[in-house]
Amino acid sequence: MSSHPFAGKRVAVVMGGLSAEREVSLNTGAGVIAALQQTGWDAVALDWREGTSLAKLLEDSGAQVVWNALHGTWGEDGAVQGLCACLRIPCTGSGILASALAMDKVMSKRIFESKGVPTPAWHLLPHEGPADGSDAVTALAKWPLPCVVKPANEGSSVGVSVVEQRADLAVAVAAARKFHGPVLVEDYIAGTEVFVGILNGKVLGSVEVRPATKFYDYEAKYKRTDTKYLIPPELSRSVIETVEQMALAAYVALGCSGHARPDLRIRPNGEAFVLEVNTLPGMTATSLLPKIAKSVGMDYATLCAEILASATTI
Ligand SMILES: Nc1ncnc2c1ncn2[C@@H]1O[C@H](COP(=O)(O)OP(=O)(O)O)[C@@H](O)[C@H]1O
Ligand SMILES: [Mg+2]
Repeated sequence: MSSHPFAGKRVAVVMGGLSAEREVSLNTGAGVIAALQQTGWDAVALDWREGTSLAKLLEDSGAQVVWNALHGTWGEDGAVQGLCACLRIPCTGSGILASALAMDKVMSKRIFESKGVPTPAWHLLPHEGPADGSDAVTALAKWPLPCVVKPANEGSSVGVSVVEQRADLAVAVAAARKFHGPVLVEDYIAGTEVFVGILNGKVLGSVEVRPATKFYDYEAKYKRTDTKYLIPPELSRSVIETVEQMALAAYVALGCSGHARPDLRIRPNGEAFVLEVNTLPGMTATSLLPKIAKSVGMDYATLCAEILASATTI
């Protein structure tokens, strides 16, 4: 630990938070704090909840560096990164701008396209519109099906629908409008789903996700035990190489740093597309990034310490 940039410093593991992913974040935080404490770190858990001031929690804790275990809005989107920058406390993960860009699927796609990173064809519908989504029927009259309808600024698959019949479009748009921000419509990419683990600008490896449900929805992510995770993915070595390089290109395009986990879909012919880059992926001991790290010989506590080492002030 002595060569670690934050050796001897007090680490605040910030968890919980105010987003819909609060419970997921508490699990991440519990795993990280246990691993850091067991390996000798002076680590304190900060549960940021509604009605508390994160700035005050940080100041009272004497934190000298933040291990950001939050997920979703006010945690993954640059807001906490900005607060830490103002307080002059280094924080793990990507900085303010990269976090904000990655959280916004539309801005991400604009950047991917400008950098030649393939992403599914898309169409944007405004957040405001008839509550029954009836405007979508005309707006998307020529849009090929199946398609995916999702809120542009959410995570954890909330509000996401795969639409196969034109008659189901309006309901899907109405469901996505329940969340803030515009509604993103994308071509459905039939095939394989792969997550790529990245640490400090290097690919660690990748995992294929095979949900038993129609797509990788909230249930498949957090509730079901029949989702299969394959490391390495069941794809040819050359397709895996392409997918991993594409994931890295997406991370670089958004200006990410530290750890991240891009999400890609691959057609049976090997054609790959980036859906999004998760800048604060789940980090319990059995989450996907730790699983990928383990497959290349990096244990959970070492991964947590490496992520800590990547903390920066911007
Ligand atoms: N264009 C697409 N083609 C096929 N499946 C998709 C597409 N977009 C989303 N999905 C499915 O929906 C899930 C959630 O969508 P995603 O864009 O990753 O949003 P979230 O931020 O909620 O994870 C994906 O993991 C995938 O299973
Ligand atoms: Mg995703």
